[in-house]
Amino acid sequence: MEDFTEQIILITGATRGIGKAIAETFLKAGGTVIGVYSGNKEAADKFTADNQTFAAQFTLYRCDISKEDEVIALFAELQNSYPRLDILINNAGIRQDAMLALMDLEKWSRVIDVNLTGTYLMSKQAVLFMMQNKYGRIISITSPVARLGFSGQANYAASKAGQIAMTKTLAKEVARKKITVNCVSPGFIATDFIEDLPKEQLAEYKKLVPMRRFGSVDDVANAVLFLAGKNSAYISGATLEVTGGL
Ligand SMILES: NC(=O)c1ccc[n+]([C@@H]2O[C@H](COP(=O)([O-])OP(=O)(O)OC[C@H]3O[C@@H](n4cnc5c(N)ncnc54)[C@H](OP(=O)(O)O)[C@@H]3O)[C@@H](O)[C@H]2O)c1
Repeated sequence: MEDFTEQIILITGATRGIGKAIAETFLKAGGTVIGVYSGNKEAADKFTADNQTFAAQFTLYRCDISKEDEVIALFAELQNSYPRLDILINNAGIRQDAMLALMDLEKWSRVIDVNLTGTYLMSKQAVLFMMQNKYGRIISITSPVARLGFSGQANYAASKAGQIAMTKTLAKEVARKKITVNCVSPGFIATDFIEDLPKEQLAEYKKLVPMRRFGSVDDVANAVLFLAGKNSAYISGATLEVTGGL
């Protein structure tokens, strides 16, 4: 595993699911982790308890990434507390499913606001911070739904496709500053995120996966660390699929 000692990593949605695995893998690799969550204090406390061994290496912040004032306040604090930012992982995301014909504007907007606008707000502030040091890695967690489309997920699919388009664009804008911008696209991963789906639907989804199993949070974390490493300097604007062949 690449050594991330001396590297400062900001991860959204860091206290649960995929984000927690990403944070813990960076901690084991020696990194300094700044974890963001939106309000689930119980999960944040569990993250802290689970990672006592690495207590000196991480700090958690509460911030709703869809709110510009909260993101600006977070970065103002980070600018005061950290010498630089090396890596941003845009992992936080939500889904609120409904058939498009029945989807109210609130459901549409909330998913776009968190998944896409949140990625924009965090990436904008991170780029400004990273440019001071002329180095950076930005990785956003998208989804194969962006290219496949699933019934009931028009808002989610649009937000995830938007992340990919934004990534390709930003990659070009910051290439000469030695900042790379990529996506990791996990398939079905067993977390709280899909826990509420009916058992029959989960069984149907499993049949779609050529490997006939859901992925683990560690499968995703390993791909993220690969793209975040110094050796991945020539990979930018890419989407790495971690889907068991989906
Ligand atoms: N699980 C899958 O099968 C799968 C597949 C493809 C892509 N993904 C993507 O992977 C990412 C992580 O998914 P997951 O399965 O780990 O989800 P999860 O277990 O539901 O965790 C979501 C995390 O995002 C945080 N979050 C939600 N809204 C936020 C906001 N407005 N501001 C800041 N943080 C917020 C949550 O914070 P709190 O704990 O405070 O609520 C939580 O830490 C998402 O972007 C998702 O779209 C997941």
